[in-house]
Amino acid sequence: MELKNIVLAKPFLKWAGGKSQLINVIETALPEKLKSLKNFTYVEPFIGSGAVLLRVLQHYPNIKKAIINDINIDLVKAYISIKKEPGLIINQLDVIQKKYFSLKNEAEKKLYFLEKRDNFNARNLNDINNSALLIFLNKTCFNGLYRVNSNNKFNVPFGRYENPKICDEENIIAVNKLLQKVKILHGDYTETLKHITGESFFYFDPPYKPISKTSSFNKYAKESFDDEEQKRLKTFCDTLSAKKIMWLLSNSDTKNNNAEDHFFDELYKGDSIFINRVKARRSINSNATKRGEIFELLISNYKK
Ligand SMILES: C[S@@+](CC[C@H](N)C(=O)[O-])C[C@H]1O[C@@H](n2cnc3c(N)ncnc32)[C@H](O)[C@@H]1O
Repeated sequence: MELKNIVLAKPFLKWAGGKSQLINVIETALPEKLKSLKNFTYVEPFIGSGAVLLRVLQHYPNIKKAIINDINIDLVKAYISIKKEPGLIINQLDVIQKKYFSLKNEAEKKLYFLEKRDNFNARNLNDINNSALLIFLNKTCFNGLYRVNSNNKFNVPFGRYENPKICDEENIIAVNKLLQKVKILHGDYTETLKHITGESFFYFDPPYKPISKTSSFNKYAKESFDDEEQKRLKTFCDTLSAKKIMWLLSNSDTKNNNAEDHFFDELYKGDSIFINRVKARRSINSNATKRGEIFELLISNYKK
């Protein structure tokens, strides 16, 4: 049987920078040790839609404990709600989906979307309602993006989908099962270190450094992730290395657009850090995409 038939749980949200496309490459870059270690913690401090977490938990059943984190509170609430109250989330999504499909035309659907977006932006919902609406908006908004303005208001417009799967019950249940061994944190990525006991492995997928002026989407929250933030993350990686903790990090390859841009080569230079350029298929609006090839970086403190 092919592996893809066995693997069921997949991201329940579409997220900018989602790793579904690169997942096989990332999996081969994981340390060999991961397969055999019995007692260690998988840590993903920038969880986003969790493509790598879900893959790892399904392919490495020896992993008994994971820690995930994100600075985006709506996202974190959604993970917690699916972990604790999957039935309530499914019920809410089912009601919303039935209503959505009962609407006669696109204009009515759009109005319903805008109404739900206003409800979400009122910021007075309980966690379950907030999470159900986040999923609904994600499935029906333009490009399935999460974007907020400076007042933390979700502002992605209505998207035109024939048949969006608003309530994916099977997947929510599959994700819920996997999340039982996952501790879910909200805050800055550095906080994750405080929760480690014993051996661990960190996979970082931070907001990417924009590779061109037109691909500067790295705003998942009110806070932005600029070059200083990329440097702070490197310092955190050094802290892990000093503690002999293995880590893998993905980022954009600034050389896609400018062969002379050595930002990451400079930042991560050193004897015990390894930079791999891997081919990625992604729809970023840039000159490199027009040429058809985009590379991304996989940086680690271990050699494969
Ligand atoms: C590139 S996305 C991760 C994508 C994810 N790997 C996936 O497959 O969907 C980066 C994530 O980092 C989060 N983030 C940004 N700044 C952060 C910080 N200082 N600490 C923790 N998370 C942060 C964003 O909210 C976003 O969800």
